[in-house]
Amino acid sequence: MRIDGAEAQSNFRCRECGELFEVEYAWSKGAPEADKPVYRPNSLALKHLWQERKSSTMAVDQSGVWRFRDLLPIVAEDRVVTLREGNTPLYEMPRAAANLGLNWLMGKHQGMNPTGSFKDTGMTAALSVAVSRGYTWVACASTGNTSAAMAAYAARAGLRSLVLIPEGKIAWGKLSQSMDYGATTVQLKTDFDGCVKVLSEIVKRAPVYLLNSVNPYRLEGQKTPAFEILEQLEWQVPQHLIVPGGNLANSSALGKGFAEMKHLGFIKKVPKISVIQAEGANPLYRWMQGGGEGQLVPVTADTRASAIRIGNPASWRKAAKVISETGGWVEQVGEREIALAKAEIGAEGIGCEPASAVTLAGLKKLVADGRVAAEETAVLLLTGHTLKDSEYTIQFHRGELLTDEEWAGASVRERAAFAKLQHEPLVLDADVDVVLRALDQSPQPASWPGTPKAGQPA
Ligand code: F0G
Repeated sequence: MRIDGAEAQSNFRCRECGELFEVEYAWSKGAPEADKPVYRPNSLALKHLWQERKSSTMAVDQSGVWRFRDLLPIVAEDRVVTLREGNTPLYEMPRAAANLGLNWLMGKHQGMNPTGSFKDTGMTAALSVAVSRGYTWVACASTGNTSAAMAAYAARAGLRSLVLIPEGKIAWGKLSQSMDYGATTVQLKTDFDGCVKVLSEIVKRAPVYLLNSVNPYRLEGQKTPAFEILEQLEWQVPQHLIVPGGNLANSSALGKGFAEMKHLGFIKKVPKISVIQAEGANPLYRWMQGGGEGQLVPVTADTRASAIRIGNPASWRKAAKVISETGGWVEQVGEREIALAKAEIGAEGIGCEPASAVTLAGLKKLVADGRVAAEETAVLLLTGHTLKDSEYTIQFHRGELLTDEEWAGASVRERAAFAKLQHEPLVLDADVDVVLRALDQSPQPASWPGTPKAGQPA
């Protein structure tokens, strides 16, 4: 069903079928024929324009989301609320590639956004819509990153914001952000899925604008990292994009971004998009294993990767469509696998939060059974900054993260891999000789394994 954006219900679901809306433009694939001439984006002209904007001093040009505004014309330029999000680095990951036997692996670090996660790219878009529609209150249920981003952008715009988070189940760094940015921060005695339920009633009864990822304008912002990855690879398309799966909106957004690039003639093919879930929060994985038909069955979620501790993902249908259309897979990874992958990403000098590390852990599985081949090119989407959850990192390095139960069944090799990456801080006397001795005894980090074969993906 097609509707005008302003007509959408407060929960962004179709009144008749209950499915989520998606933003469509006159140039979108499958859009109805217009009776008057419409803007048709020109890929050559836009490639130049987007590069040129990088050297402009205007805020909308400096933003790595609004730099692409020609393909997300959702608000007037003077309504844009931006913290100069986006323009995040695409890092080579040569050590992780060498470990996996891959020639080429990169990490798109969305944790390098202003509030430390990919949520900023979506929040600038949807919050700007809230401003242009005249809302004074915005709200979200969150596992921590959405709330941090929403609170920051709401503060910039002078809007009031309501954050619903599961009590005791989000990382401190994220909780501190929403407090610092001045949100009304409410910890509910439930999980993320319970917070979503409460909020869905609140938006029906009060004039607050819902900024969870069911808001289709969020996805318009979150599609732009797809454009950036292509720009950063000089319009060569990586064969695989690996994305963590929680509420399953980000994989959908990136799929939309790549599909638009193909439809508009920027590229000829799209990457296979694979989604990785934590074993304890794996409803999409289960649905796929069960044949991928009918309704998704929610689970009670439990994982230390608290950002993706979600049992009833709202955007699962959109994500399933993207995975099947691009030829990707859904994988699940356990707590041990996540912890090791996170430490490996840290050892690259990059770092990320646990939920982001599922990408590397999942890629290991895809490589192990040949779904990703050595000569293929892959990009991991690193969704959050390592400082978001420093408690997890400290527990890892102190050897206090995993329970004996979780260690059961670990191979000698796996234990050795953990031990090699654990760097507990030393407590020493304030004596020069003692510190110098510690230098002699400290292990040599893995070296950069030759010049990475970057820049020439297929
Ligand atoms: N990675 C991080 C760091 C996240 O914060 C999230 C989601 C995801 C991955 C999963 O993305 O939900 O689009 O599949 N965090 C949400 C939040 C739910 O409230 O911050 P998704």
